[in-house]
Amino acid sequence: MKVHSAAVHSGDRKRTGGWVPVTTPISTATSYFYNDIDDLDRVFDKNMPGQSYARYSNPTNDALEELVSELEHGEGALACSSGMAALHMAIETALLDRRRVVVAANLLYGATLNMLVKVFEPAGVEVVFADFTDESAVRRAVAEHRPGAIVMETIANPLLRVPPVDRIADMAKDAGAALVVDNTFATPLIMRPLELGASIVVHSLTKYLSGHGDVLGGIVVTDQTHLDPLRSLSRMLGFTLGPFEAYLAMRGIKTFPLRMERQCANSCHIAQWLSSHPAVDHVYFPADCSHPDAENIKRLFAPGLFGGMVSFELKDGDRDRIFRMMNALKMIVPATSLGDVHSMMLYPAMSSHRELAPKHRARLGIQDNLVRLSIGIEAVEDIIADLDQALGHAASAAS
Ligand SMILES: Cc1ncc(COP(=O)(O)O)c(C=O)c1O
Repeated sequence: MKVHSAAVHSGDRKRTGGWVPVTTPISTATSYFYNDIDDLDRVFDKNMPGQSYARYSNPTNDALEELVSELEHGEGALACSSGMAALHMAIETALLDRRRVVVAANLLYGATLNMLVKVFEPAGVEVVFADFTDESAVRRAVAEHRPGAIVMETIANPLLRVPPVDRIADMAKDAGAALVVDNTFATPLIMRPLELGASIVVHSLTKYLSGHGDVLGGIVVTDQTHLDPLRSLSRMLGFTLGPFEAYLAMRGIKTFPLRMERQCANSCHIAQWLSSHPAVDHVYFPADCSHPDAENIKRLFAPGLFGGMVSFELKDGDRDRIFRMMNALKMIVPATSLGDVHSMMLYPAMSSHRELAPKHRARLGIQDNLVRLSIGIEAVEDIIADLDQALGHAASAAS
């Protein structure tokens, strides 16, 4: 072969021998060939297992999908380029062959609320919001609007409310609607919504599952009925996760249960510590007996695990004081996102719920003095020491 041909062909497309790599490699090939072109035809026809084109499937993504499907007790999964892409795919799939009406929780990640209002509504979907922590309000909305899809989060962002997903799943079933559940905050260690009757579970892989702040990705996990239409839609829309990200996500997931257990333990300590701090007005954490959804938490959460998120309101806190406190942080990272190994502090009014009008935020109970913490795996004493000194800054600014 001449150098121009060798540069293109040599070393590639080796037949695999009898060996198996111990961990899943990154497969970057965008297309595949077979000994006989008939075989490729069979793969396209789904009459033979195999790969054909990277937008359809990829061996690295296949492995990740199998892994997350197993964690969520699903029948299959689809890895997407972000959590929002996964949510979009999930809702579109839920609405296929169903009434184009969505009943959604009013407490959702800001971008999810926006997507429903600014993408689905203009595309002709009727979107109705209800307070999902009020069972009778959901029941009324479902009876009145007869949705094709119901959309909610297991632990709602950022006030950490826990709706009765099992009862809402029953309502969805009775109404013939598909229940789409974003399980990013709870993770399958705390709750598995498919087992409770949900049709489709979504994760932002960017958060707890990957856990190291270096992957943007999402995944949809579902049953056999929804899997085929989900995959067909994905072939057309191409919101596919790249194989490098799939590899990183898989690598991250190997330690996800250990990280999550530690994050849950740390957050219990921190919530308790914050609740007796003089600069703190109110702590939102799902472990408190006084939590308004305590009954749901007891019934739905794995024992002793309450998640790694703690929100709190700063006494006399306004945007300036909160910014001063965040600027004073020495170890906790004042940045957007959650679920990483490092602790993070976020100001919902500026970040996750920035796009909502202040009045809308206030109606949802998201005050301008609310701060959200994602607790990491550091030594809890160090997290508390950093919070203490930063809260001291906020208080001295106030006096
Ligand atoms: C609960 C929840 N769902 C979905 C998303 C969207 O995920 P991504 O940023 O990976 O698109 C986020 C992002 O913060 C989130 O918090």
